[in-house]
Amino acid sequence: MNSPPYKVIFDTDPGVDDAMALYFALAHPAIEVIGVTTTFGNVTVEQAVSNALYLTAIAGVSVPVTQGIAAPLTLPAPVPPAHIHGADGLGNLVERVPIQATLDPRSSAQFIVDTARAQPGEITLVAVGPLGNLALALAIEPRLPQLLREVILMGGTVLEPGNVSAVAEANIANDPHAAAKVFAANWKLTMVGLDVTHRVILPLALFKKIADKQQHLATTTLHQAVSFYADFYSSLYPHVARIHGCFGHDVLAFLYLVQPELFALAHGRISVLTEGTLQGQTVLSNSYLADAELADRRSQCVSQVCMQVDADACLQVFEETLLGRWLG
Ligand code: BDR
Ligand code: CA
Repeated sequence: MNSPPYKVIFDTDPGVDDAMALYFALAHPAIEVIGVTTTFGNVTVEQAVSNALYLTAIAGVSVPVTQGIAAPLTLPAPVPPAHIHGADGLGNLVERVPIQATLDPRSSAQFIVDTARAQPGEITLVAVGPLGNLALALAIEPRLPQLLREVILMGGTVLEPGNVSAVAEANIANDPHAAAKVFAANWKLTMVGLDVTHRVILPLALFKKIADKQQHLATTTLHQAVSFYADFYSSLYPHVARIHGCFGHDVLAFLYLVQPELFALAHGRISVLTEGTLQGQTVLSNSYLADAELADRRSQCVSQVCMQVDADACLQVFEETLLGRWLG
């Protein structure tokens, strides 16, 4: 691959699909992960830090990891969904090998601001958890939308039903006030939500194949974690159970980064409902605007939303990437 790597800050609440996404990013030759910023969500922020340090260390990667926001901006802290990701966020791993890794002392928000200021226009922020770190970073540095190259987030839904209520997706529902601030900022933003993540089902057998062919603690750990996660999704969705699989959610944000042609987009302003029974719903307005009307879309906070995806191609890219040469 000749194209220069995308420099990425990965904002995450690992989380099994977060772990999938992290390993896809580390394995992909066009992506350079320059920092992992953690948040509460699938687990407490302390556990998210521990998981981020562990996953990077066992993959032999040294990258700054920061501790981020511990609770939503306004709502009470949610109970982590141990039935989906395990009490440890990684499917209740039986054991963890000792690692040596240190935490970057900055907050996640400060790390995002410092890095964006130091490398203006170069950094893509891929956010796959609740959006509090990004909202705090915006408060510290209102010029962040001009300093970042792009924001790609996994969260929200337009037409697909929600996964924590009839209308809301988990990352947005966990901190709708933060999400509202993020969608109201004028950056280039792409939302990768349930409209596409519910179309891509990864079989557990794929993770076994990767662990068998690419024998390494990182791939066996991922396989173990996904085994728990696939049991959850297979218990909930008969069509997922048929292949004993799971949704890849967060990894779709990286698949969009490297292969946007696999996705069909809608454009419009996204607003978030912060109160009442529709709390956490993402509403897309002005969708399908004519191109001419989009000329000034950043100043009008017009976002892109992934509405359709080539699922087979995504699975192929995921497999090829994880089977590539990325582990020592
Ligand atoms: C999102 O919520 C979390 O549980 C997953 O890691 C993903 O980011 C899916 O709704
Ligand atoms: Ca996540």
